[in-house]
Amino acid sequence: MPERILAAVAWPYANGSIHIGHVAGTYLPADIFTRYHRMKGNKVLMVSGSDAHGTPVTLTAEQQGVGPEDIFNKYQAEFLDSWKRLGISFDLFTTTHTDNHAKVSQDIFSRLLARDYIYKDTMVQPYCENESRFLADRYVEGTCPHCAFNGARGDQCDDCGRTLDPKDLLRMVCRICGSTPEFRETEHFFLKLSAFQDQLLEWVRKQDHWRPNVRNFTIGYLEGGLHDRAITRDIEWGVPLPLDGYEDKRLYVWFEAVIGYLSASIEWAHNSETPEAWKPFWEDGSRAYYFMGKDNIPFHTVIWPAMLLGYGGLNLPYDVPANEYLNLEGFKLSTSRNWAVWLPDYLDRYEPDPLRYVIAANLPETSDSDFSWREYVRRNNDELVATYGNLVHRVLSMLNRNFDGILPDPGELDGVSKGLLAQAQERFGETATYLEAVRLRLALQSSMALAQAANRYLDQKEPWRAVRRDKSDAAQTLWTTISVINCLKTTMYPFLPFSSQKLHCMLGFEGDVEDSGWNWDANAMKPGQKLQRPAPLFQKLDEDVIAAEEQRLND
Ligand code: MF3
Ligand code: ZN
Repeated sequence: MPERILAAVAWPYANGSIHIGHVAGTYLPADIFTRYHRMKGNKVLMVSGSDAHGTPVTLTAEQQGVGPEDIFNKYQAEFLDSWKRLGISFDLFTTTHTDNHAKVSQDIFSRLLARDYIYKDTMVQPYCENESRFLADRYVEGTCPHCAFNGARGDQCDDCGRTLDPKDLLRMVCRICGSTPEFRETEHFFLKLSAFQDQLLEWVRKQDHWRPNVRNFTIGYLEGGLHDRAITRDIEWGVPLPLDGYEDKRLYVWFEAVIGYLSASIEWAHNSETPEAWKPFWEDGSRAYYFMGKDNIPFHTVIWPAMLLGYGGLNLPYDVPANEYLNLEGFKLSTSRNWAVWLPDYLDRYEPDPLRYVIAANLPETSDSDFSWREYVRRNNDELVATYGNLVHRVLSMLNRNFDGILPDPGELDGVSKGLLAQAQERFGETATYLEAVRLRLALQSSMALAQAANRYLDQKEPWRAVRRDKSDAAQTLWTTISVINCLKTTMYPFLPFSSQKLHCMLGFEGDVEDSGWNWDANAMKPGQKLQRPAPLFQKLDEDVIAAEEQRLND
């Protein structure tokens, strides 16, 4: 029986390009996991989209003197292009700016309101008299009461990372005109999070399979006490409320963005002309995995689950394998200081698989990790090219040179050859076990260890020598190694989809490598199979790349 998996991937704000931090924290892990499950023959739905509303987008638009729809349209197109080039294989990457999303969000709002999980109350918000408007959290800034940083925003201090309320800010000013706002009372709708505290705590305590950091953080958050939260704002850009008399308010971006997982599933089903097909992904018998960076954890382990419980009938997350941060050359990535490797820029100049490989090998799964260009070049040259690519190239070249590119009969296998095949079997199972548990770094290590074992086997058997004195011995060595390479093609596929596809063809197969399935049988490589001439899977990079890229970062 195939399993059912919903891969729910955090929605990037449509106000700037994707950088390697987003790739490492969210998109690559989601894609690796999803490709594995698809290859295994499971039913997978991987959805996300642009987070089009909210103040990040309107602020960028105002700074550039354009409308918010211009900003989100631009980045929506850029994201789609980046996913395609990096091989991030969404079933649907939509946006929160669709009629369908508004409808689904309003439906959730209405049901929660009818069930008294949403109620009306007043609160005070900063109001700028100069601009005649209420100022959303990111529209005010001031001095952080914790660390005295001067550019702290109303929702968060970017220096010390603490979450803030506009009321906390010292010397608060309006970010649009610089004047000092006053606090005014305004009516808003509140989500009754407090009603879910005990139920959520009980649920989270049972999630033994969650990463300890995610589970502990969530338990701490819940034990600290859940406070009701305003889920509407006095703004014009966003999803309108499904009620008369509130035309100048919109749903708070975080309230509606998390609903995107559901609305995107519905949109996908609709597009596939099977309008009910989203349901089994949200009901018993399906597991939902949510991929994101650690700053998004409470929205997915507390607020969205509370909304789902209130709504009823839909699955809670099965796992939330959130990641820590990826640093760059030892420093925290920063969009404002332009300390980042931007994905579109990378993809204009280099191949996708080496980035996927280097990031996967360094995923910040349990603690922060680092990307450096030195490490990038080293891993590309020493691991992808020297260990994996050369293995493939050597073996296919020898087969072309000495056996006319036809896979020879191995004869009766000797102990060493049998030993290598047994290792392949073991690594194959181990890689799968790690992938299932979303321990992707270990999965890649396990797969790479098999490539190393194959190299040692070749060095021991020396088929390039054997071919001159005992061709049948060389035949056995080359057949055995090709069988292991066929195994690597599969275990590496979730990480290196482009190279695995190339390799699949070089091994003489046709069609999509994913359709060959997550299985491995040493005897799948039949004597007599016609192999292709090898083309290099990876390119060696000049050491000069390191200095040039470091320079580029500092420009
Ligand atoms: N746009 C948010 C961010 O970049 C993430 C939203 S995830 C969602 O931090 F599910 F709420 F959409
Ligand atoms: Zn601070």
